[in-house]
Amino acid sequence: MNSANNSNNNEKALEVRTHDIPIADAMTEFMKEGWAPSPLTGVNPHPSIPFTKIRRERLSKQYPGIRLIFPSGSLKVRSNDSDYPFRAHSAYSWFTGIISLDCVPDSLFVMEPNGSGHDALLFIHPRSPRDSDEFYKNARHGEFWIGRRMTLEETETKYGLKTEKIESIEEFLANKKDTLIIRGEDKHIDGLVAENEEKEKEFLNFTSLMRIVKDQYEIDEMQKAIDVSVRGFADMIRVFPAAISVPRGERVIESAFYGRARLEGNDLGYPSIVASGAHACVLHWIKNDGDVLPGDLILIDAGVEVESHYTADITRTFPVNGKFTEAQRQIYMIVYKAQQAGIAAVKPGAKFKDFHNACMVEIAKGAAELGVLPISVEDSLKPEGGLHRRWQVCGSGHHLGIDVHDCAHARKEQYAEAVLEAGMLITVEPGFYIQPDDMLFPEEYRGIGVRIEDDILVTESGAKIMSNALPRHPDEVEAYMAKLLK
Ligand code: GLY
Ligand code: MN
Ligand code: MN
Repeated sequence: MNSANNSNNNEKALEVRTHDIPIADAMTEFMKEGWAPSPLTGVNPHPSIPFTKIRRERLSKQYPGIRLIFPSGSLKVRSNDSDYPFRAHSAYSWFTGIISLDCVPDSLFVMEPNGSGHDALLFIHPRSPRDSDEFYKNARHGEFWIGRRMTLEETETKYGLKTEKIESIEEFLANKKDTLIIRGEDKHIDGLVAENEEKEKEFLNFTSLMRIVKDQYEIDEMQKAIDVSVRGFADMIRVFPAAISVPRGERVIESAFYGRARLEGNDLGYPSIVASGAHACVLHWIKNDGDVLPGDLILIDAGVEVESHYTADITRTFPVNGKFTEAQRQIYMIVYKAQQAGIAAVKPGAKFKDFHNACMVEIAKGAAELGVLPISVEDSLKPEGGLHRRWQVCGSGHHLGIDVHDCAHARKEQYAEAVLEAGMLITVEPGFYIQPDDMLFPEEYRGIGVRIEDDILVTESGAKIMSNALPRHPDEVEAYMAKLLK
């Protein structure tokens, strides 16, 4: 039995589908013949190859003599025989460079010790030959159903990895040796590898932390993701009039960004937050079913994931009708200043948490100026104070890359307590959220929520704002909207 047939999902639901029409033996025979060869043309080595090679060499040095396994993950069932679109595990993608369009569910990437280092081996479910019946009978893997997969040879050429059929994995793993796996992604393979919880946790930590400083390939892919996302923001503004004209207009805006994500990228990097009016005060508002009303602000947090799986993460807060009210602008400027201060604190040698602290100074000052902070700014900024955080309960940023919250298995001392280095890529995203029932504020302020989020590369000379093409200052935001809506 191969890994694909044993995957985490409901193969059974596919095998017994009541609406399928039985296929006669004569048809099965007939389908074996009369097919021309159909090789892919234009398969060239992928630009990620020199970079993934260096990543694997670093990994090999850390784990001499140990077999290392990275599952791509399996299809995840949405309902019955419908799956979610497949998205490979980030570590699998990072060590192989395989782009989304070429990823095959239930694949494995293996680093096999060879005495002096490791051999890189890929196990995939390749294109099924015309003499098996999978290509037209299997609704989950068949070429007639989901399209053509690459052959072993095509995969080797494109990604520079020795590639084998996933069917041979059980035999391969029967030769037991010390093994570490990213567990929880492929139940079948997990069952074939003895568990060592502590060592696997350390492995997950090490492989997550390896991604914390980006190489040039990653920086270039991130810039692509950001540039596509910026175009997606323009798409969204263009549909504001349409969004205002119907109930649940947030969905109109959400759809415009999704269209850009699918056109130029793989998908959304995370569910878009399209939060009109007081929805902006819900940090992860993804229902996006609200009306879009002139006079309100709309907070939009959205990022495109490009084919290499890198994602942007950008937030802007727009006045729906193109002009901020005085109260909206006042709150907006607190956040704007907080973000400026945060970005200024991003430099090599600074602590990761410094930019959050810099943001918080401005948030606390802003609250004090508005007369809602019951203690002094100084006292509020003390760890035992923190009252200004009533209006920004979350942090002010995170590492960004192949995951929107990248390097998530790093420990506190490696992340929040660590020092920034050139090549790190983070978001700076302060906000000021006045809940609609916050009676400390006069009515005109209640329900105003503002966040400004940019994607920042740490360079030797300080912060580079990779998402700078999207205006931030309120005057520039108004001018930008006017241009797009004229
Ligand atoms: N979009 C998720 C975040 O900003 O962290
Ligand atoms: Mn973010
Ligand atoms: Mn965000």
